[in-house]
Amino acid sequence: MPTALDRVQVSHFVAEESFARHLDDLDPCSAFRSRFAVPCGNAAQPNVYFVGNSLGAMPLATRTMLMEELDDWSTLGVEGHFHAKRPWYSWHEQVREPLARLVGAKPSEVVAMNSLTTNLHLMLTTFYRPEGNRTKILIEKGAFPSDIFALRSHVAARGLDPDVHVIEIAARVDEWLLDETDIEAECERLGDTLACAVLPGVQYRTGQAFDLARLTRAVHAVGATCGFDLAHAAGNIDVQLTASMCDFAVWCSYKYLNAGAGAVGGCFVAERHGRDTSLPRLAGWWGNDPTTRFQMSDRFIPVASADAWQLSNPPILSLVPLLASLQIFDEATIPVLRRKSIVMTGYLEYLIRDALRGHAELLTPASASRRGCQLSLLFKDNARARFGALTAAGIVCDYREPGIVRLAPTPLYNTFHEVWRAAQAVKSACVS
Ligand SMILES: Cc1ncc(COP(=O)(O)O)c(C=O)c1O
Repeated sequence: MPTALDRVQVSHFVAEESFARHLDDLDPCSAFRSRFAVPCGNAAQPNVYFVGNSLGAMPLATRTMLMEELDDWSTLGVEGHFHAKRPWYSWHEQVREPLARLVGAKPSEVVAMNSLTTNLHLMLTTFYRPEGNRTKILIEKGAFPSDIFALRSHVAARGLDPDVHVIEIAARVDEWLLDETDIEAECERLGDTLACAVLPGVQYRTGQAFDLARLTRAVHAVGATCGFDLAHAAGNIDVQLTASMCDFAVWCSYKYLNAGAGAVGGCFVAERHGRDTSLPRLAGWWGNDPTTRFQMSDRFIPVASADAWQLSNPPILSLVPLLASLQIFDEATIPVLRRKSIVMTGYLEYLIRDALRGHAELLTPASASRRGCQLSLLFKDNARARFGALTAAGIVCDYREPGIVRLAPTPLYNTFHEVWRAAQAVKSACVS
């Protein structure tokens, strides 16, 4: 159902504070803010929390739900595996369906486990299988270092030289955004030497969003497997993993998923692979078919789904914040959040665009379909000082070398008035 906010277009934007208040009045998601502990300073200096791209705010339900688990543990002990309010033995199954809805997947294709980098290693063990001439693995040059470390270590572990077999595709000279046609051309160039590609959903520095289906087609066209790092995409944009036809994806849950520092990450394995129990993988008892798990056999029988990549029994206390957050996402729904997010980020861009001229470059693509909620500003000079000025004005944002300030208004708990306030601070920082 379209809401009044959905009818707001860029041509309607007005720079006055009262217009920001008007947008807040139209906001269909406004009630969700009160469900979060948003670190917004004190009355004397209220902060604007624009770093949901780094660490999301805490859902208030997390505390209650954690206490319930602690109560069950303290009173039931080992009996909690089967008799806790949410029995621990099957606890992780509660996050499966909301997680699947969040990333456009089937429940059997997703599993919450480990951390992003650990999951990437597990996926590479299965999906990077160098053979004969097909040995290369493709990644973007500006990828998050952990991904590059993971890829290089896999290549080295297979006895290959990472400098030769890890191919890093860069943006064009003097450009920040990676052209999808260049990725397609690189796949074609690599042809049957390409074994696997690990690509971004949303680029962490620039905020550029990629067309997952298009990139998957390019990688599959040369017979390689395709996976995505969705650290900055999950909970931010409308990800449709099953439809993309990609082979695997990994993400963390402490950013837009608001599940707390070091939260349990997520993993997607396409159904066609989940069903193939003959695939090579690293195995552990929790990936074993639950119907035979407690027979304590020495033969691993993988369950025919993404669950088969689990190693150990899940950390219940660490999964609680994820469940608390996913319940809110289920109520809000990604399409509604995404529509608010597009207006919010569009409004921020509208308010600061003129002030940036001569002082900073907006690295993030202008088109809503090519970005999530984050805007990345590359200051031409004194970037650290300008970031300091923003922080001093109560705008909680972050800084990445070389001179990039990232601002991420998140639709679950940020307001349009905060966007307006942040814009005033950006304008002042530009001329300070
Ligand atoms: C794009 C991206 N990939 C990977 C990681 C690493 O995540 P983790 O520490 O959960 O393995 C991060 C962390 O911020 C990230 O932003």
